[in-house]
Amino acid sequence: MKQTSISEVKLIEIPLIKDIRGNLGVLEGSTVPFKFKRVYYLFDVPSDAYRGAHSHKEQEELLIALSGSFDVVLDDGKEKKRILLNSPRHGLYIPPGIWRELEHFSSAAVCLALNSDVYSEADYIRDYDTFQNSKED
Ligand code: TYD
Repeated sequence: MKQTSISEVKLIEIPLIKDIRGNLGVLEGSTVPFKFKRVYYLFDVPSDAYRGAHSHKEQEELLIALSGSFDVVLDDGKEKKRILLNSPRHGLYIPPGIWRELEHFSSAAVCLALNSDVYSEADYIRDYDTFQNSKED
């Protein structure tokens, strides 16, 4: 189990191609600190819903509020941090071994997620006590 900490979570500025016709954000090369193999997105999330509530064993992730806003609550087993994502100009990089919960979705919020691997339930820790124990190993 990777003994990562919240200090390794990073807000990444997404390069923009600005134009009077609108902004174009690009995710390629070294902007994303891992090779992504999967993209998924959350939308139509009720404002009182909680998403996430897991950590990954190996997979890395980048979350972007493509539209609207939501809170990401991060936990490395010792420290917690709440980050409001409210702009498609930034991506939140989350290394493996970090518990995350997503909440307070605004109306029309869209959360885009880039992930370092294809979906594998075996990579998830969905029980908080198991997560805590994995951080104490
Ligand atoms: P879940 O992990 O609960 O979503 P979130 O963390 O965003 O709240 O996933 C919900 C369901 O969707 C669960 O049965 C697993 C499945 N799923 C996939 O099949 N592929 C995927 O890429 C993802 C993210 C989830």
